[in-house]
Amino acid sequence: MVTASAFAVGGLVSLSGSALAANYTVPLVNYGPIAGIAKLNANENPYGPSPDAMNAMMQATAKGAYYAAEPYQVLVDMIAEKNALSKTQVSLSSGSSGVLSYAAIAASNKGQILGPDLFWDTTAQAPERMGREKIKRIAKTADLSIDLDALYAAIDGNVAMVHVTNPNNPTGQLLDAGKLREFCIKASKKTLVLVDEAYNEVTDMPETNSMVSLVREGHNVIVAKTFSKIYGLAGMRVGYMLASEENTNDINRYSLGGYAMNQAGLAAAIASYNDEAFLKMSKSKIIEGREMVVDAVKANGLIALPSSTNFVFVDLGKGNAEIFRQKMEEQNVLIRGIYRDYTSWSRVSMGMIPDVQKYVNALPRVLEQTLALS
Ligand SMILES: Cc1ncc(COP(=O)(O)O)c(C=O)c1O
Repeated sequence: MVTASAFAVGGLVSLSGSALAANYTVPLVNYGPIAGIAKLNANENPYGPSPDAMNAMMQATAKGAYYAAEPYQVLVDMIAEKNALSKTQVSLSSGSSGVLSYAAIAASNKGQILGPDLFWDTTAQAPERMGREKIKRIAKTADLSIDLDALYAAIDGNVAMVHVTNPNNPTGQLLDAGKLREFCIKASKKTLVLVDEAYNEVTDMPETNSMVSLVREGHNVIVAKTFSKIYGLAGMRVGYMLASEENTNDINRYSLGGYAMNQAGLAAAIASYNDEAFLKMSKSKIIEGREMVVDAVKANGLIALPSSTNFVFVDLGKGNAEIFRQKMEEQNVLIRGIYRDYTSWSRVSMGMIPDVQKYVNALPRVLEQTLALS
């Protein structure tokens, strides 16, 4: 057995305490950010996992020798019930990156993926990484919002899927629910529409803003969600997709379903899914941090886009976002650098309040250094 005291020692530790676990070493690993580092670069929720999720994971970990068929099914059932969908309309994967990648690959068998100029496109790029077509992108707009009319106009015979991230990452902007709904209904008559709702639970009205009702109504729309953000389980890797049975089957051709999932992640997701108190607490901390950042940005003469998420997209004006990132790192604050050709835009994620405070404190000096070097 690995004892807590074994992990308290630095460097490589010898394990003892049981006849089976003698004479080998396990490297000591940092499973989260190193102490003293404000990690504000990956839109995680450091208030997770919830206490219930921690308990469930302890139990599941003890049964880590077994594949996770039962917990997989339990979580599918819970998600299906809450969304008034059938079990055959829910597919789980290791993070929503799994299902999003499968959807992208499935679409690329038929044609191209269409998206805005800037969005979380890591999975939509999967076909390109496989030597298939690149994402078709519509032009950047002045306010960096997603132009749904332009997106609709860009659907041609070769477009196999439209990818909409709402709220969008890295901009943090939320689309008007009515307009998005109208777009989805219209566009899904021409092609498959994917709505990535990774940050939906952080918005003011998650139910209104979700397009899950369109899946229920039978439109050619799929919705992706994740336990990585407000649920505070990014490292436990659980996400899911809601779609018609036909689309689910198409996407699941690339998935190993329950075999690709781990006990502890599923246990944590099951324990957190309906934990309203934890979600409320997380949301209030996110909003508290966001207000601190928005105030600091203003006080330093900068502009940020209105955010409905756990991150803020800040315009550094004449400042270069990569230099800004490096200078923040020198202050032990990790944030994101440049996206595409958005050279002055910098994304900072919310974290523990003292970590957000570190960003706020560092901002005037780091900005001055950045402007001098840009
Ligand atoms: C919009 C969006 N979708 C999906 C993901 C994928 O996250 P995960 O695979 O952890 O669910 C991210 C990660 O940052 C994201 O920002």
